[in-house]
Amino acid sequence: ASSALIDPFGRAVTYIRVSVTDRCDFRCVYCMSEDMHFLPKSDLLTLEELDRLCAAFVAKGTRKIRVTGGEPLVRRGIMTLFRSLSRHLGSGALDELTVTTNGSQLARFAGELADCGIRRINVSLDTLDPDKFRKITRWGDLSKVLAGIDAAQAAGLDVKLNAVALAGVNEDEFVPMIEWAHGRGIDLTFIEVMPLGEIEGQRADQYLPLNKVRAGLMDRFTLQDSDYRTGGPARYVTLKETGGRLGFITPLTHNFCESCNRVRITCTGTLYMCLGQEDAADLRGPLRASETDGPLNDAIERAILRKPKGHDFIIDRTTRLPAVGRHMSVTGG
Ligand code: GTP
Ligand code: 5AD
Ligand code: SF4
Repeated sequence: ASSALIDPFGRAVTYIRVSVTDRCDFRCVYCMSEDMHFLPKSDLLTLEELDRLCAAFVAKGTRKIRVTGGEPLVRRGIMTLFRSLSRHLGSGALDELTVTTNGSQLARFAGELADCGIRRINVSLDTLDPDKFRKITRWGDLSKVLAGIDAAQAAGLDVKLNAVALAGVNEDEFVPMIEWAHGRGIDLTFIEVMPLGEIEGQRADQYLPLNKVRAGLMDRFTLQDSDYRTGGPARYVTLKETGGRLGFITPLTHNFCESCNRVRITCTGTLYMCLGQEDAADLRGPLRASETDGPLNDAIERAILRKPKGHDFIIDRTTRLPAVGRHMSVTGG
C-alpha cells in the first residue's frame, strides 16, 4: 500500500482536479484569448490513461476528484471516464466525484452524471443577461446553459454557480443573480479574476476585489458567517433574507493557500502542484514507461515534495505580464 501525500508545508493532498481537455466551446474573455491554440488530439492522454492516473492518486489518499477542462463535457466519450471513476465511490475510497462545467452540454449529460454517483456540480455563469453572456463567452447561448441547469436539478444534482466578478461587466447583476440562484436552491460563489495567461484586455480593468463586493452587498443582505466547507477555497456566508449560501473565492484579497489540499492534472498528464506557479511534473512519461505503477508513484511522490507554499498573484497597472503563462483552460482552475 502507498503512503499519503504530504507536502513540505505539512498539507495533505487529498483533492485532484483533472482537466480532460484544453478545449472549450466558449472563449470567455477573462479566460482565453481570441486566437487560442489548442493541443493536437495526439498529445492527449487516453481516457484509460486518465483513469489510471486518477486511480494512482486514489491509492495515495485522494478523497475528491473534480473533472474540469477546458469544458470537460466536450471531450469525446467522457461519460466512460465518469462511469469508471465512480467505482472509487462504490468502494468508499472516494468521498466525492464532481465536475466543473460551463453548462452548455449539461441538458444532454445531467442524467448520466447523476447515475455515476455525482451529487453536486459547479456551473460557471457570470451573467443572466443573454447579450452580456454572448459578449463574455464570445458566442455562447445562455438559454442552453439555463436548460442545462434545469436538467441538472431535475436529475437531482445540487448545483453551485460560479461567477467571476468583472468590473463594469456584471457587478450591477450581483443582487439579481443571488436572488435568482437562491430562489432555486442554488449556491452562488463569486471569484476574483486571476492573472493567468495573456488575454486581449488588461487584467486590471477586469479585476474587482471581493471585499468591496461583500461590503456593497451588506446594504442589501444580512451576511451570516457559515462554517459550510466543500474542500475547495470558497468561504461561505448565509444570507438571512434568502436563506441561501453565498461563497467568496478570494485569491487576491485573502489568500487561502495555507489550507491548500489540491493539485491539478492536465489532459497531457502534466501535474501542476499550484494553480499560480509554473513548476510542473510530467506524469505521462512514467505512466507510459511501465504497466505497473512503480515509476508513476515515484514521480507523484517526488512532485508533491515540490508543492510551493502558494501563488504570488498580483493585479495592478505596473505589469501586463500574467503571473503564469498558461490560461485557466489548461488546468481548469
Ligand atoms: P467546490 O469547493 O468543491 O465546490 O469547488 P471549487 O469552488 O473549489 O471549484 P471550482 O471548479 O468551482 O472552482 C472555482 C474557482 O476556484 C475557479 O476559478 C478555480 O480556479 C478557483 N480555485 C480552485 N482551487 C484554487 C486554488 O487552489 N487556488 C486558486 N487561486 N484558485 C482556486
Ligand atoms: N480568473 C478567475 N477565474 C477564471 N476562470 C477562468 N479563467 C479565470 C481567471 N483568469 C473561471 C471560470 C470557471 C472556473 C473554472 O474558472 O469562469 O468558473
Ligand atoms: Fe470555457 Fe470555462 Fe474558459 Fe469560459 S471559463 S472559456 S467556459 S474554460
